[in-house]
Amino acid sequence: MNTIRATEGSNETGHSTDDLVARRKQHFLPTALTYHQEPLQLVKAQGEYVWDEQGRRYLDGIGGIVCISAGHNHPRIKEKLIAMLQNDEIQHTSMLYVSSYPVELAEQILAEAPDNITRAAFTNSGSEANELAFLAARQATGESMVINLRHSYHGGTSAALAQCGHHNWRFRNQPVSNTTSAMEPYCYRCPFNKTADSCSLECAKNVETTIQTTTHGRIAAMIVEPVMGVGGFIAPPKEYFDEVTRIVHEYGGKYISDEVQTGAGRCEGDFLLTKSLGINADMVTMAKGFGNGAAIGAVLMDEDSASSMAGKLHFNTFGGDPFQTVQAKLTMDVIREEKMAENAVAMGQRLMDGLKGLMNEHEIIGDVRGRGLLMGMELVKDRNTKEHATAETAALMDRCKDHGLLLGKGGLFGNVLRIAPPISVNEQQVDEMISVIDRSLHELRS
Ligand SMILES: Cc1ncc(COP(=O)(O)O)c(C=O)c1O
Repeated sequence: MNTIRATEGSNETGHSTDDLVARRKQHFLPTALTYHQEPLQLVKAQGEYVWDEQGRRYLDGIGGIVCISAGHNHPRIKEKLIAMLQNDEIQHTSMLYVSSYPVELAEQILAEAPDNITRAAFTNSGSEANELAFLAARQATGESMVINLRHSYHGGTSAALAQCGHHNWRFRNQPVSNTTSAMEPYCYRCPFNKTADSCSLECAKNVETTIQTTTHGRIAAMIVEPVMGVGGFIAPPKEYFDEVTRIVHEYGGKYISDEVQTGAGRCEGDFLLTKSLGINADMVTMAKGFGNGAAIGAVLMDEDSASSMAGKLHFNTFGGDPFQTVQAKLTMDVIREEKMAENAVAMGQRLMDGLKGLMNEHEIIGDVRGRGLLMGMELVKDRNTKEHATAETAALMDRCKDHGLLLGKGGLFGNVLRIAPPISVNEQQVDEMISVIDRSLHELRS
């Protein structure tokens, strides 16, 4: 019955999941969620697989939470970390001391960025990367207004959260200032009721209307995810970005491309999707798959934004530390040497074809979309009304887990199944994912 799961690699921890869940409930904030109705305790990981405390193996179809790019515990990265520990290499330097690791990483990541982007800073997370990008944009332009998209997610810190287009993530009384939202480029649920044949990029033009009607006419920045992650892998067409960057620049703003989910070779063959799509960005922010599980984020920026900050101090205690930066650097090496970005394009196409094929049999699938190995499957109760199939999506995720496949979900109404495995995934694993989803959908119908 269970095609993926196997029991080799058992790594018993002696902790019962129920007991840990109960203690979590007692000690943590009530905002700390778990995936799945029966939460999973994960104790071991290797390549594309993870194991629970009972030794059960799962194919990781969501890469942690889109954080594992080159595969869990890649041998090359593991060996280097073990050697660093054995040699008592220094763990913490901040940028106040000099270390080769952040310098090499900066050179390597800037070589992958569009030509106008020449400067880098490292943080511990995507939220901090976006905070720093807003700060730089505001400093460089002398303006404060930042535009976001409805349905976007940019992080849990104050300024990043203020740019978040989901009510679930916002808090009462949490300050939201100098922020305005443009309409979402959500083709499946076009806010302008257009279809592919009738569309003339009203969503992109809405950025200009938003500036003209909700700002004083000049802006500091606009932040956009090239594929909207938490929003449900909404993937606008390339032309959208051409028009939006033109408008943002016309009104004096910096364009920030939030590649926290899309970066690290996951989408269209380049390390950055901004480059593949030719997005005329002034800044790119990164995290998640950039560190392949290590807590590291980055802001890459143009000379104008960076130089505007000269004369001020900006400091991040752990940003640029050796153990984090070496992991990001080796992740980049592995992705390049093992041609994983090329693999993501081929496997992404295979996955998309397979999932689109399932639409013939399963009416509940309303849309399949994405770029590379960032693939969303939107579930609806009825293809005409497009009513969100929220409970069904949670049930499908649980059923796939029971068959040894971990997936994520997203979208404002939690009805988009999110598939983003490590980009090292192979054909047999992609086919297995499709067949487990197919079987689980059949079981949920019966
Ligand atoms: C597009 C995007 N930007 C920023 C963030 C925030 O990153 P972090 O959770 O590392 O602070 C996230 C997290 O999910 C994200 O998806």
